[in-house]
Amino acid sequence: MDTIEAIKNRRSIRKYKTDPVDEKTLEVVLEAARQAPSWANTQCWKFIVVRDTNIRAQLAETIEANPTLGRNPATKAFSTAPIIIVALAEKNISGYFHGNTATDKGDWWFMFDVALAMENLMLAATAMGLGTVHIGLFDTARVASLLEIPNEYYVVEMTPLGYPEYQPNPRPRKELSEIVFYNKFGKSRIV
Ligand SMILES: Cc1cc2nc3c(=O)[nH]c(=O)nc-3n(C[C@H](O)[C@H](O)[C@H](O)COP(=O)(O)O)c2cc1C
Repeated sequence: MDTIEAIKNRRSIRKYKTDPVDEKTLEVVLEAARQAPSWANTQCWKFIVVRDTNIRAQLAETIEANPTLGRNPATKAFSTAPIIIVALAEKNISGYFHGNTATDKGDWWFMFDVALAMENLMLAATAMGLGTVHIGLFDTARVASLLEIPNEYYVVEMTPLGYPEYQPNPRPRKELSEIVFYNKFGKSRIV
């Protein structure tokens, strides 16, 4: 599958088969994450691969545990998908220059770097017939405690990794004319 095809075929997958994902396949998607660009090549990311059934169930609870977070449609995937990947970012690296934050975004660049790595991972997964979904709505403090993550790291997101039960229909997207300007903000293309 070429890149454009993988971008178009990627869907958020929330229903998975229980079929296992072998180590070689897992390594291909992790390698895609490793190759992502990052702030000054700092690579602040870490990935925790969870295959353990009990820990996967406890991770699912971190989504539903806090009633103020609301229901998350991705929760059920944790009991079927054979793998959950938790993405972390080491603090105080991305966005820094000589020990100080270098832009108006402060240290938010860790979100950018992890997103690039995770989207690489997800596109590689799509190309191999696997499903994923970015999951941001969960109790990060509970995940940090459950997985014994040191305080020097942010818990950023999670995704199941497994074979999709089915291929969902594409979600709608804004038209290019709504999101692209030419030369100056708000200017549409003059034809
Ligand atoms: C930063 C981010 C956080 C997300 N968090 C969740 C989530 O917690 N639960 C969920 O089911 N989907 C989550 N999604 C998936 C989006 O709902 C999904 O990408 C969007 O509806 C478009 O659908 P598509 O991915 O199939 O194109 C998240 C996506 C992003 C980019």
